[in-house]
Amino acid sequence: MDLPVDGAFCHRLPKAELHAHLSGSVRRETLHTIWQRKQAKQQCLDLEDPSIALKPAGDYPTVVSFFQIFNKYIYRLLDDAESIIDATMSVLEDFRKDGVRYLELRTTPRAVPEQGIDYAEYVHLVREAIEGWNLARWFHNAHAYELEAHLILSVDRSMTLAQAMEVVGVAIANQEPLKPGCASRVLGVDLCGNPSVTPISHLAPAFRRARDAGLNVTVHFAETFTSATNAELEELLSWSPSRLGHAIHVPPHLIEEIKSKDIALELCLSCNVLSKLTEGGFADHHFGMWRDSRCKVALGTDDVGVFESALSNEYRLAAEHFGLSKSEVVGLARSAVSAAWAGKVRMTKLLDEFS
Ligand code: IMP
Ligand code: ZN
Repeated sequence: MDLPVDGAFCHRLPKAELHAHLSGSVRRETLHTIWQRKQAKQQCLDLEDPSIALKPAGDYPTVVSFFQIFNKYIYRLLDDAESIIDATMSVLEDFRKDGVRYLELRTTPRAVPEQGIDYAEYVHLVREAIEGWNLARWFHNAHAYELEAHLILSVDRSMTLAQAMEVVGVAIANQEPLKPGCASRVLGVDLCGNPSVTPISHLAPAFRRARDAGLNVTVHFAETFTSATNAELEELLSWSPSRLGHAIHVPPHLIEEIKSKDIALELCLSCNVLSKLTEGGFADHHFGMWRDSRCKVALGTDDVGVFESALSNEYRLAAEHFGLSKSEVVGLARSAVSAAWAGKVRMTKLLDEFS
């Protein structure tokens, strides 16, 4: 068991992905196919080919330029039912091929009024895509489900309270499986978006409503210095999140609070290093600090379509830069499962079989 960790081992490892944004997880080839289809229909003629428009991973000089690719490009391509469904199915297929067996995929409900799509319809399309893809795989793989996928609905930091309330309302309405025999459902809500957009305190009632309705809460936490003021971090912790995304610039007294409340950390190495949210290289990533603090850690990809590092590679990178043995890597996969909001029994069984 304690031989060096390689890519094949991390690929075979049954993995739980808890921090992945749907629109940021779409592979460039999939975006290209969608772009070509639109061009053939004389749509989006002003949009460049994604292979030109999307820079290589690591070439986004600022956080702002990274967030612009969604509003200026990806959302313009994924603006109709067919594109949203195709993109969702391709994301699921990519995670499956990487050995992800449990996925909590997050997405921000979007309205496309020209297409008759409101927040509720957007979520319905994504859920139909998950169920359709699952069913197809079920027939293909001798009637065994390969990937258990659930949803987290994101509230963007730039939303008004009314918009955030609408997201939470849609989340509450989607807490149950769509049809008998289907597992997928909305498990919780997230706060995401450009961290330079402040303040966020007006969104508190929406997160309170989500909690009261039994939804789980995760928030992007201390991603940049701007979003790591004591006021913002204390506000976010008052929303009772059970997980925190990134958790980069956390002051010592809040590290203690996070430990004492048993809050889990969703950590994304490549995303942080390539987008320069963290200083230095992989070995300097705060993964080491959180792991030493004995908090639950779940490695995640964040935006694998942009940063092009699959979850298996994130495990490999952690092993390489923090000197993890195979049994420690399996322990890390178990740690992610312990922070998951559903599917722990099946994943624990898979990991028992693996080790
Ligand atoms: P979507 O929610 O499926 O549309 O995925 C894209 C969205 O995720 C972006 O518009 C951002 O709001 C959010 N997002 C992606 N990566 C990050 C991140 O690193 N920090 C905060 N928000 C992010
Ligand atoms: Zn994120």
